[in-house]
Amino acid sequence: MKKPYYQSLVYSLGCLLIIYACKHKEDVHTTWSVYRGDAYNTAYSALDQINKENVSRLEVAWTYHTGDAEPGNHSTIQCNPIIVNGTMYVTSPKLKLIALNPSTGKEIWKFDPFNGGQSSGVNRGVTYWESGSDKRIYFSAGPYLYSVNAMDGRLSPNFGVEGKVDLREGLLRDPSKLNVTSTSPGIIYKNLIIQGTALSDGWDAPPGFIRAYDVKTGKTVWTFHTIPQPGETGYNTWSENAYQEVGGANNWCGMSVDDIRGIVFIPTGSASFDFYGGNRKGKNLYANCLLAIEAVTGKLIWHYQLVHHDIWDYDLPAPPNLLTVSQNGKQVDVVAQVTKMGMVFVFNRETGEPIFPIEERPVSASDILGEEVWTTQPFPVKPVPLVRHKFTEDDVTDISPESHAYVRNKIKGANMGSIYMPHSIEGTVQFPGSRGGAEWGGAAVDPTQGMLYVNTNEIPLLIKMRQIDVAGRDLFLTDVGRRVYTLNNCTACHGGDRAGTNVYPALTNLHKTKSEKQIASLLKTGKGQMPAFPNLSQDDMEALMAFLFDKKDLRNKKAIHVHDSAKKYRFVHDGWNLLNDQEGYPGVKPPWGTLNAVDLNSGEVLWKVPLGEYPELIAKGLPPTGTQSLGGPAVTAGGLIFIGGTRDEYFRAFDQKTGKILWQYKLPATGTATPSVYEVDGKQYIVIAAGGGGKLGTPSSDAYVAFSLKE
Ligand code: HEC
Repeated sequence: MKKPYYQSLVYSLGCLLIIYACKHKEDVHTTWSVYRGDAYNTAYSALDQINKENVSRLEVAWTYHTGDAEPGNHSTIQCNPIIVNGTMYVTSPKLKLIALNPSTGKEIWKFDPFNGGQSSGVNRGVTYWESGSDKRIYFSAGPYLYSVNAMDGRLSPNFGVEGKVDLREGLLRDPSKLNVTSTSPGIIYKNLIIQGTALSDGWDAPPGFIRAYDVKTGKTVWTFHTIPQPGETGYNTWSENAYQEVGGANNWCGMSVDDIRGIVFIPTGSASFDFYGGNRKGKNLYANCLLAIEAVTGKLIWHYQLVHHDIWDYDLPAPPNLLTVSQNGKQVDVVAQVTKMGMVFVFNRETGEPIFPIEERPVSASDILGEEVWTTQPFPVKPVPLVRHKFTEDDVTDISPESHAYVRNKIKGANMGSIYMPHSIEGTVQFPGSRGGAEWGGAAVDPTQGMLYVNTNEIPLLIKMRQIDVAGRDLFLTDVGRRVYTLNNCTACHGGDRAGTNVYPALTNLHKTKSEKQIASLLKTGKGQMPAFPNLSQDDMEALMAFLFDKKDLRNKKAIHVHDSAKKYRFVHDGWNLLNDQEGYPGVKPPWGTLNAVDLNSGEVLWKVPLGEYPELIAKGLPPTGTQSLGGPAVTAGGLIFIGGTRDEYFRAFDQKTGKILWQYKLPATGTATPSVYEVDGKQYIVIAAGGGGKLGTPSSDAYVAFSLKE
């Protein structure tokens, strides 16, 4: 590993000497005014009114219904509420921004960024900033970052254009053809809001540059090129012209700020296309990196790449946690990054030096045409991975003989083995899958003890790559349409055969339910988890409709050459197919989801317990299997860890010391969000969004539920 921070060592030494003795103060952790608790991303509260002794008396204080959930499992809420100056700020399934009274759940005001029009995307939270009487909420929906008056929900007229900044601008591509959103809130440093983006995993993704905007004007103050341009450091870690056509390497999950040192810590995702890298040979800096960036200038201080040349969709999924640990008798300020691989990487915050050594270990080569897998990947010697790193026939589910036989049959001929198995035409079992390990819920830390708590998933994928046929001209319009469909990554969600999944609708009988006009409009705006596709040309659209509506007899008269670049982009995958058994349970031996406690002082995993259960499997006599979970934990000085996120729709309190369940409550829907802990007039509350839906596909709801102790 090169030491990229040499270049800034002089600078760092200079300012670090001055601030060395200073310690970050975060309102001693009694507020929750920043996404996931504070800018250090601790998700920790020092409130202890609710504690191990009395948590059994916790009950619902109020429930607020946003009123805009979609039927079935078509909408979700992923928002971690913030509470500032006696007001709670939340977002709804259709991304309305709502101010609530935090002790009653009564609505104060509501702002609809779509103005009654079609909403799309998800939102995980908002950002607060104030200066004197100027108090604002920053919040993103569609392609815009909005600045809203925190008192009355009105747009701030002088921010960007009439209160909003267009996130598509400044990415060195034609903004009108881009689909750029932001799911996670930006972070404040002084007069800047530093903001990441959520992009498609497909070929159409623009680069995920990080931007810092002036909080008042919305002007771009700096841009960090996560995909370096010619002449910039890191440019030579890509194929020569990749910077012009490759996208991704974005920060979609949020970031953390060390306000004392003025460093923003930014985790990035993989480069797009996510599962094939033949057109982006090399390590691909700064994709899949933890970046330490000087917050004022946007200059890189240090970086560490956690996945080289990612072809597994192993985006860094959560903002890193900043805390202090004890190392050989010394207190060290560290940054800890959880990953989809279930590995936890811990670095010295100033230097980027790993706290526990990281080894580069060899991984398997790919036999897919043009794909050059990086020959090694980084593994920390401590903590041990929180999820299994291999899948062989021995690991096939054993919950019943039928399940075992079904999955054995499904993986016949597939590649499998250790983590970082390359993808293949025959199919590869990817384990951990792209749902983690850790996911966007991330980890909570107890900064008083150097402890980290994180939920992880163990859900294998069975990924099949297919080559896009690039030979000759398509005779029929449906064939052109199939190519448009494939190249635009519709396959990833709806499947190569358009069969869909429990989350993504099948597109096989569209003519029975939808008109072409409806579909064209959907492709234009997106809806819920269905992204917008502004890049599709008129010809693309015509061909796509022929394909989707099975107009088999239409000849390709226009000789449409849909994507000339198809010659380079030879492979796509057939969908994020979960390797499940015949009943939909994961195809690997349990556990399928766990909650973990890691001592970051020693690097030891202190405990690991199943998180969530399937009542019907318990009834059959199986021990708790855990379920996939989305949404993270919060930890409190009451010795408790609060977490929802599981398929069984429970919200639970665990004993911080032992991992024992001390309390649980069945929510109106899965709490696919991180809870917030706060206090009003001497009373402690815990609130969580119960929106269901999302990638879990459990039934949707529109509730925020707050809990407090029975009087
Ligand atoms: C990231 C996953 C994802 C991708 C990529 C995606 N879709 Fe979708 N699509 C969805 C989801 C989710 C819905 C359901 C939206 C809703 O009703 O809430 C949907 C709905 C649809 C529908 C409506 C189906 C119905 O019966 O109502 C059509 C048609 C469709 N998608 C076509 C496409 C096409 C064509 C592409 C590629 C250009 C595409 N989708 C890419 C997730 C995706």
